[in-house]
Amino acid sequence: MKFLLVTDLDNTLIGDDQATIALIKKLTPIRQNLSLVYATGRSLVSYNSLCQEFRLRTGQSLLVPDYLVTSVGSEIYSGVYSETDRENTLVQAWTRDQDWANHISIDWERQAIATLASATAELLAQSEIEQNEWKLSYLLNSKHNFTIIQNLKQKLNQAGLKAQVIFSSDRDLDILPKKSGKGKAVTYLREKLGIAANRTLVCGDSGNDVAMFEQMTLGVIVKNSQQELLDWHQLHSYPNHYVSQRDCAWGILEAIAHFQIHLFA
Ligand code: GLC
Ligand code: MG
Repeated sequence: MKFLLVTDLDNTLIGDDQATIALIKKLTPIRQNLSLVYATGRSLVSYNSLCQEFRLRTGQSLLVPDYLVTSVGSEIYSGVYSETDRENTLVQAWTRDQDWANHISIDWERQAIATLASATAELLAQSEIEQNEWKLSYLLNSKHNFTIIQNLKQKLNQAGLKAQVIFSSDRDLDILPKKSGKGKAVTYLREKLGIAANRTLVCGDSGNDVAMFEQMTLGVIVKNSQQELLDWHQLHSYPNHYVSQRDCAWGILEAIAHFQIHLFA
């Protein structure tokens, strides 16, 4: 059975270039034994920019994942490879998973939610490119963040709107369908691939990664994690979660050793 490695991008896989490169070196020879998934808050367009920036900065390319979970788990993409590319390193296109889109569309009333959220003056809409059919994203920067979020959740509930509110980096607030999110998207892919939870490692640093840690897989919370994830970990400390001693991708490398993960098939 392959091993499933799922990692967030910003401040987890990316953030310390030397660490990212060291991890790429470790994984390249055994890439075929891995299913690799990137789970990010970024959109597909913004993911592509990140790859390009990394290439320009370091002269190296990120490993091409088998799947991309983008926009906080509101979209899933799989790579379409060229027939002649035996190593599957050149993605010709990314195709959006329509089954996932249909699944999370059930009971999702985007317009009603947008109208309800617009009544909260402290919520400033993020730019248009950060919004999609299943993701409403705002910036929130108030002394009363906690109360504002509680009130918003309560209002959604009272209106019978099935949505989840995710707060990350003490700044970003996303509203998504209850059936979506990084955690549920990863479980969907894990089941599709037929990989056991104990052969899966999830890696993250912020609030939108909490949902991944709620699934019963192995997990690494990197040292540089945001307070909201560290607080969550304090409350729910599962034995299968490891807080690394070094930042970003160094933490992923540490976790591979810590869990004694055998990457050779
Ligand atoms: C990424 C997305 C942003 C989102 C944030 C937290 O930065 O671009 O829209 O709010 O992740 O999930
Ligand atoms: Mg992150």
